[in-house]
Formats: sequence, C-alpha cells, structure tokens
Amino acid sequence: MDIRVLQPSDIPHVQLANITNLPENYFCKYYLYHALSWPQLSYVAVDLSRSSGEPPKIVGYVLAKMEEEPADGVQHGHITSLSVMRTHRRLGLAEKLMRQSQKAMVEAFGAKYVSLHVRVSNKAALHLYRDTLQFEVDKVEDRYYADGENAYSMRKDLTFLE
Ligand code: ACO
Repeated sequence: MDIRVLQPSDIPHVQLANITNLPENYFCKYYLYHALSWPQLSYVAVDLSRSSGEPPKIVGYVLAKMEEEPADGVQHGHITSLSVMRTHRRLGLAEKLMRQSQKAMVEAFGAKYVSLHVRVSNKAALHLYRDTLQFEVDKVEDRYYADGENAYSMRKDLTFLE
C-alpha cells in the first residue's frame, strides 16, 4: 500500500470512493479546487498489490484544505472528506492519511489546528478521530447534515508539530 499526494488525474477515482462510502458528495471542480489550491494537503492510499495488467487502485483518500477566512483569525486546516473502501478498512490507512495531511498543514501553511465535522452516529470515524488521533469535540451542530443528523464539530491542536 502506498500513501501519496493526490494528483488531479486521481479525481475520478477519489470521487468514486467518496460516492461509494459517504452520502456527502461533491462536484469534480471542488476536488480540483482542493488539489490546485492546497496541493500538499490531500492524499490517496493506493493498492499496488493488484494482479498483473490491472492498474493500481485508489482505496482511500483524505481531501483537505486550509480555512480561507478563519472566523477566529487563526490559520487552520479543515478535513473536507475522508474515506477508505470497505475491502481495505482496519489496516490503519485512515490514520496514516490523516497524519500525513496534518503534518503538511503545519509544514506548508503554519496551521495551528485542524477541524472537521462528523456525524454523531459515526462510531468508526469517532473512534479514529477521538481515540486514535486525539481530536476533541468543540461543539454539536444541530441538523448539520441534509438528512437532519447532528454533527460533532471537532478540532485538534497541531502546535506540537511545529
Ligand atoms: N468501529 C470501531 N473502531 C474502528 C472502526 C469501527 N468500525 N473502524 C476503525 N476503527 C478504529 C481502528 O480500530 C483504529 O483504532 P486503534 O487506533 O485504537 O487501533 C482506528 O479506528 C483507526 O483505524 P484505521 O484502520 O486507520 O481506519 P480505516 O482505514 O478503517 O478507516 C474510516 C476509518 C475512514 C472511518 C472508514 O471506516 C470509512 O471510510 N468509513 C466510511 C466513510 C466515513 O465515515 N468517513 C468519515 C466521515 S467524516 C469526514 O469525512 C470529515
């Protein structure tokens, strides 16, 4: 398995993974905006162990950005979307993708913290964010998602990486 920076040519594969794994989907141009504006921050996990003739497959991604007009005036990153294909879960890929992105947020943009939203019912993601990566719940956002579910707005301090 290889973790590398997302290239614009990966976008159709990342979009497919996103549609397969999450109800929150985006237009191609939004992925491209991330890849062109903050090329250091988004990563893909590629399965290289495919049978001969088959191209390497993108089995996970993290799509990340810097907050453009932070309300608090503090430079920080934001995780727009993260997912790993079912066939490749529980292998540590999501943790690796997240750590790579967090490091790049600090090194390339001087991010002080990273934020994200997650469904309150998403046990797997909550384990990853809260227990593995030490994010903290900042607040609950009522009916954040289109189907009415609440979100935890979470954040993690990144100054320890400076
Ligand atoms: N239940 C409980 N804990 C879990 C689960 C689960 N289903 N899946 C993973 N974990 C734990 C792992 O055990 C590990 O814990 P540890 O550090 O204590 O050993 C930790 O989470 C990290 O595991 P990874 O293997 O790195 O996670 P994985 O690659 O399986 O991906 C993810 C986790 C991204 C949440 C995956 O389940 C997924 O794609 N889900 C569907 C899409 C999704 O919910 N994405 C997040 C939405 S929020 C957002 O995009 C900002």
